[in-house]
Amino acid sequence: MSDFVSSFWSYFIGVIALGGIAFCVWLLFSQRAWLKQGVKQVEDTGHVWDGDLTELNNPVPRWWTVMYLGLCVIALAILFLYPGVGSYKGKLEYTAAKQVKAEQVALNERIKPVFERYQKMPITEVAHDADAREIGQRLFLNNCAQCHGSDARGSGSFPNLADGDWLYGGEPEQILQTITKGRHGMMPPWSSQIKPAEAADIAQYVRSLSGLASDPLRVVPGKRGFDTFCVACHGAEGKGNTALGAPNLTDGIWLYGSSEATIVETILNGRQNVMPAQEGLLTEDQIRMLAAWVWGLSNQSANVAAQ
Ligand code: HEC
Ligand code: HEC
Repeated sequence: MSDFVSSFWSYFIGVIALGGIAFCVWLLFSQRAWLKQGVKQVEDTGHVWDGDLTELNNPVPRWWTVMYLGLCVIALAILFLYPGVGSYKGKLEYTAAKQVKAEQVALNERIKPVFERYQKMPITEVAHDADAREIGQRLFLNNCAQCHGSDARGSGSFPNLADGDWLYGGEPEQILQTITKGRHGMMPPWSSQIKPAEAADIAQYVRSLSGLASDPLRVVPGKRGFDTFCVACHGAEGKGNTALGAPNLTDGIWLYGSSEATIVETILNGRQNVMPAQEGLLTEDQIRMLAAWVWGLSNQSANVAAQ
């Protein structure tokens, strides 16, 4: 309720909720023939069906009246304890989000023993354990496959996690850090300092770094531009920097593509790419299982051991 800017809807809902109960009580009161029970004679209403089926105006039984009022009291009690009257949070301050959280905590408590076996094991060892790899794969399919693909081979700007090529490093600690805290890859835009023609030359040089077809005449000025603007992050040889997530430009592996047009677009407009932090979404145990599984993808010994 607190999402609304004005409190109008809060009152609107409050009036409907409480007004509804008040209406029910009033309705009973307005039909209070039961009060005069014994005084008033039972009359027929003049409605007759099937020849002899006569409708009488008997008052409702007392037990029914008591039940009816009892239900109104229960309704008021529920509105007092739980949210229901506009933005009033209820005495118990219940929310569905809190309930989900509590269920999650209980579930994590229940599956804790499964993870306990792996807590003291180094990640590289967990990666060699067949059961652990199965758990890791399931976690990956549930939490990561929507971006990295069910085979972890990525697509488009979502990196392949199985090719042994790393933006942020492939040591267990680096993978743990990536998953726990997330990453924000940022290549700044250069359109204010680099003209499109110059960017095209630099793109030719970048293509030459991984042995792609390039124009030798344009590679020379291109290298000059690269040395001025790009080496700070991508390194003098273009081999990248895992501390910044600057990709290696010499390995023939591309997040965005290797055509001149794509590279020019990267240079002029920059690129932003976010790996969302899993801290708070997954437990530390789950993140370790994932890191082990991901590490195992590009470390043959773990793959072989698990088969
Ligand atoms: C919303 C999409 C998304 C989800 C979900 C996601 N990732 Fe990522 N991940 C990315 C992007 C995008 C990058 C690249 C970031 C960059 O370029 O700076 C990345 C990068 C990574 C890297 C670093 C790769 C490298 O080369 O250094 C690892 C490891 C990784 N993700 C693992 C995971 C795991 C494990 C999960 C599941 C818990 C996961 N990701 C879930 C989008 C996602
Ligand atoms: C401040 C650091 C920084 C500088 C300076 C920088 N880059 Fe980048 N570059 C990055 C990062 C980080 C990425 C990865 C972005 C991502 O994760 O999406 C990137 C990505 C790229 C890509 C995409 C690679 C792929 O796999 O598709 C190319 C090409 C590139 N840079 C070329 C250049 C060129 C050419 C220059 C000089 C004009 C340059 N960069 C300057 C940080 C930098």
